[in-house]
Order: sequence, then structure tokens, then C-alpha cells
Amino acid sequence: MIKRKSKREIELMHEAGKLLAGVHKELRSFIKPGVTTMEIENFVEKYLAERGATGEQKGYQGYEFTTCASINDEICHGFPRKEKLEQGDIVTIDMVVNLNGALADSAWTHAVGEISEEAQRLMDVTKTSLYKGIEQAKVGNRIGDIGHAIQSYAEAEGYSVVKDFTGHGIGESIHEDPYIPHFGEAGKGARLKEGMVITIEPMLNIGSWESRMDENNWTARTVDGTLSAQYEHTVAITKDGPIILTEQEE
Ligand code: MF3
Ligand code: CO
Repeated sequence: MIKRKSKREIELMHEAGKLLAGVHKELRSFIKPGVTTMEIENFVEKYLAERGATGEQKGYQGYEFTTCASINDEICHGFPRKEKLEQGDIVTIDMVVNLNGALADSAWTHAVGEISEEAQRLMDVTKTSLYKGIEQAKVGNRIGDIGHAIQSYAEAEGYSVVKDFTGHGIGESIHEDPYIPHFGEAGKGARLKEGMVITIEPMLNIGSWESRMDENNWTARTVDGTLSAQYEHTVAITKDGPIILTEQEE
């Protein structure tokens, strides 16, 4: 069942989203060679606590951390850990913020120091693919329009789109209907309606789209060891067009 949100509910989610955007902005300078993803986890927990917010991922379906930290060939759901990040790594930090009961979800791939041109181009195309998806998140369009915009652009740029993980509705809990694949056919799927709040979170790989699961039963990584990047926003569908609730640039 798709739950649509009131203007007030969307405003509250936007407050959570602005706080989350602030975390990613801070992480731009916090993340550098020598920092560990466990230090990032602790930094985020403190940042949220100081502002009266909590991390919604901790305890969700047994997940034990506030952040997911996915390094290089890890696609998503990497665990924060004690090994130091190295120059040239890319790391995706994903989190869900709960502020006064309202949720927002955003993932961002960060560069660790100087990175290769290959990694930078993957990140740039992945971020652009997210915005191409968001452009389609408007009343009257269909879910397939979002995935189609992402997939056609990503593949034309030579990358593959991960199929095993999708965007999703978000509201009282992290994952609600509808599911938003980052691939598909234009004009197909459920119609997008005013008041829907969804995440769009494309994961693009340099090599094959296929993933395999680590023994921890959480972390997915590319089958061929190539790099993977991800950008995610929480987006409200309104009669005035999509509102990005986790935008960092405003
Ligand atoms: N933030 C994730 C998403 O984009 C959810 C992570 S699953 C969790 O869908 F268990 F880590 F919370
Ligand atoms: Co997320």
C-alpha cells in the first residue's frame, strides 16, 4: 500500500533531510586518508545526538550501525570498521535520520584524498544519473520513467546499473511501497501521485551489474571487483514538481 504524506508531514521530513544534508557536507572534509569508517560512524552519531536526532538504521532488521560505509567494490550495506581509508579509495556513506519522528534517507559517495580519473568519472555519472531520475519524479509520470532515465544515461556512459537493490517509499518506516528500480521502461509501472515520498538511489558499477553477498549477510559487492558508486536523495512528489528533501546545495 502506498501511503501519501500531508504537506506538514513532508515539511517535517524536510527538516530531517536538511540535517542529513548537513552531515554529508561535514563529511566532505572529515573523510581523508587515515580516517576509519568507525570514526565516521562515531562522528555521525555525535552530530545527530547534539541536534536531537537519531540514526534510524541502528537496530533496523538487526543492522547494528547508524551508517553504512561501502568502500570501493562494496555496493551497499558495508559495516563501519577499524581499518584506515587510503588515498584513492571511494566510500559511500548511507544513513537514515530520524528527527522528531520524521525520516530522511541519503547516501553519498565521497573521495578519499586524490582519486583516479576512472573513479571520479564513475562518481560524476552516478550523481548525474540520480538527478536524471529525480527529474522524472513528477505527478502523472510512472515509476518506470525514473528507472528508464537512470539506466539509459548510465549505460550510454558505459556503466552498469545494480538491479538487486532499489529505491523505496519512506515514511513511518525506512522501507515502504512503492519500490523504485533504477532500470526499466518508460511509461510502465504505477503512476506517481502528489504526496508520495520516495528515495532514488542508483548504484552504478564500472563492470558487471551483478552483486554477491558477503558472509555477514549484509554487504553486497561487485562480482568482478570493479568500483561501485551510489548517490541517494529522499524526494517528495508535489504538484509543483519534485522537492529534494536531502539536498546539500541549498
Ligand atoms: N539507507 C538504506 C536505503 O537506502 C537502508 C539501509 S538498510 C539498513 O535503503 F539496515 F542499513 F538500515
Ligand atoms: Co539510504
